[in-house]
Amino acid sequence: MIFLICAGGVSLAVTLTVSVALSVAIGLVLAEAIYFKKRFRDLKFSFGKQSPRLWSPKDRFDPKKDVMTVRKDPNKDFVILAFPDIQVWEPFRLGKKYVIYNTIKNAVKKTEPDMIVLLGDNAFYYSRQCCEKITKIMEEIGLPWAPVFGNHDFEGNADLAALGDIFMKGAHCLFRKGPRNLFGEGNYAVNIEQDGKIVHTLFFFDTGSGAFSYDESKVRYVKASELKDKSPAFYKTRIHEGEHKGEIRIGEDWGAFSYDQIQYYKWLLAGIAEENGGVKPESTIFCHVAPYEFNDAYFEWIGSGCDPEKGFGEMNVKIGSAPVSTGLFDAVLEEGSTKNIIVGHEHENDLSVLYKGVRLSYAVKCGDECTAFAETLNGGSTLTIDKDGRGIRYENVCVPLEGKRHYDKMMWYYHELEKEEDEKWTKIEEEEAKNGNA
Ligand SMILES: [Fe+2]
Repeated sequence: MIFLICAGGVSLAVTLTVSVALSVAIGLVLAEAIYFKKRFRDLKFSFGKQSPRLWSPKDRFDPKKDVMTVRKDPNKDFVILAFPDIQVWEPFRLGKKYVIYNTIKNAVKKTEPDMIVLLGDNAFYYSRQCCEKITKIMEEIGLPWAPVFGNHDFEGNADLAALGDIFMKGAHCLFRKGPRNLFGEGNYAVNIEQDGKIVHTLFFFDTGSGAFSYDESKVRYVKASELKDKSPAFYKTRIHEGEHKGEIRIGEDWGAFSYDQIQYYKWLLAGIAEENGGVKPESTIFCHVAPYEFNDAYFEWIGSGCDPEKGFGEMNVKIGSAPVSTGLFDAVLEEGSTKNIIVGHEHENDLSVLYKGVRLSYAVKCGDECTAFAETLNGGSTLTIDKDGRGIRYENVCVPLEGKRHYDKMMWYYHELEKEEDEKWTKIEEEEAKNGNA
């Protein structure tokens, strides 16, 4: 009898254990299925609509289609606040508790701008969700805003046309895809109008993301020894082996303006001038990667002893422009309209230099993603346009890091690389000192 009761108890316990284990297993499988379904949906790649516009230089300029407009209050200056390289890869990092959100809000509070520009490398990885959130933040601010793309924006879960579609859902967004047959996505212009007159034009260009081929013999090299004391940022990148041993290569392998973009810039200016009673307005170019001439401007500036009247800010890393000039700056000088070119891309630079009458500026990096300089370079930069449409002031605006910082695996990786690099450099310098080459 006792044996039978015990046997019954054991079998009940076994049955119960098996059922609990089965339920847990089924629960786990279901949870996993839901998780992967969500993850698949989140990562699913989106394609956007292509711009229907095919442009020819022979086209007639149409002010209604070819340029956007913002109105300027004649009683006050017009302030443009530029945020480069938000470069956020997960949308939760744009939340109210985090640094990026607070940086944007605090810089806006500090500068009271009339318009915001996003200078590219806005997002990657979960780029679709990040751009949706960026659009939401910009629309909450409620000012006209104009983004360009950088070299990282295409690396996420949507093509640039899809990200453009997301931006354009924002009622205050001025982004336009521009002609389909131009290089890049989002080449467009915005006129600032005051009392019905165009007083200033803003150009937005996509400097692209891919490497390209070029004539290596046209690439410039500078002797590292000439820059050792003047520019540690450039010095660290010198080439030690091969034909260019001990030299620094100018430029990187992307970021060249294409011939058609330059023609489009000239065509837009001509059309806008015609529309403006023959008067070509002053203008500003916003793009992600610095045009090649940033190098010439920088070398001229350090060569003159860093004249504070002409330049300010920091150059902590080498300029990542294209390796050769493709003519945008020549067109700028020829047209005589553009007085400011404002870029992002190098998160650690905020140098602004006047060169041949044009101010070439790096805007202050926005937020703490992918930078080792967040403590000192966090915020944005402003360009102030006066009643006559002149860009009278360019300023860097730093705000303190406020909010939660997300542990950034990528930064950890960069730091490790940097440590390796530093060790390598110490060795090279010690060797050179031994050989009397330092
Ligand atoms: Fe970039």
